[in-house]
Amino acid sequence: MPARDIIIDTDPGQDDAAAILLALASPEDINVLGITAVAGNVPLPLTQKNARSVCEFAGKVDVRVFAGCDAPMTRALVTAEHVHGKTGLDGPTLPDPKMPLQEKHGVDFIIETLRERPSGTVTLCPLGPLSNIATALTRAPDIAARIQEIVLMGGAYFEVGNITPAAEFNIYVDPEAADVVFKSGIKITVMPLDVTHKVLVTPERIKALRAVQTPVCDAMADMIDFFERFDTDKYGSSGAPLHDPCVTAYLIKPELFTGRHINVEIETRSELTLGMTVADWWGVTDRAPNAMFMGDVDAKGFFDLLTERLARL
Ligand code: BDR
Ligand code: CA
Repeated sequence: MPARDIIIDTDPGQDDAAAILLALASPEDINVLGITAVAGNVPLPLTQKNARSVCEFAGKVDVRVFAGCDAPMTRALVTAEHVHGKTGLDGPTLPDPKMPLQEKHGVDFIIETLRERPSGTVTLCPLGPLSNIATALTRAPDIAARIQEIVLMGGAYFEVGNITPAAEFNIYVDPEAADVVFKSGIKITVMPLDVTHKVLVTPERIKALRAVQTPVCDAMADMIDFFERFDTDKYGSSGAPLHDPCVTAYLIKPELFTGRHINVEIETRSELTLGMTVADWWGVTDRAPNAMFMGDVDAKGFFDLLTERLARL
């Protein structure tokens, strides 16, 4: 199979960094057409800078990085420095990037790429709030039919929420954007907390990453060490979940994941459950399925893949 053309839409974020690195380390499977940054874990000036730092640190200075939306579609931005640190990438000290930020707006890049490329050949990979993707779909509705698939990290059913008792961070930050995406009719694959909370970075898995002894694997291990503190304190588990690389791992080895094709709706009105992904896992409504909602993952297979691929950088 030829490498799949993708746009990564991201708010780095240590786990976003892992997702980006996994993609950049896998040119036989994934061709990164560009990276669009969005406001999320930290504000946009930091997420676009972090995206460039990660690419440059991996020696991939030709990857084009664009800045997209600096706020959700209709709401004030909620950030997650309490998880990711002040910079969003706390842990290792990565050098300031020298590679330029592209002048074009990230939303324009998404629209233009989808119009220029053959229809059905570009996959969007959102790893943060869906503001850029929904803005592109709203501004240029013709692109919906041209998108091969959207593979995103967001939402939860069994795990319910992480930023509120009812909602996962990426969906909660911009629920109106998520609503646009889930109503778009585009083929959607979702990596919810139900999957990512099974991808735990245990001490043995960090050890395997450090054993590679490369600057990239060391930096990744330092990043994980940083945000792990927050999640292990919170969940009392043996390691923190690594959310976003589930998206890029899926593109490489879809057989690692299993789920159900179900209906998923986004709560946009309730104060208490704002941003909840109301997933009809048990098929109790007659609402039409609109997303492949993953529920399980081969965590060992995932970490073997991540470590083997990151070792190449
Ligand atoms: C998601 O929120 C962010 O903090 C992570 O980068 C991930 O995309 C997990 O809820
Ligand atoms: Ca993210």
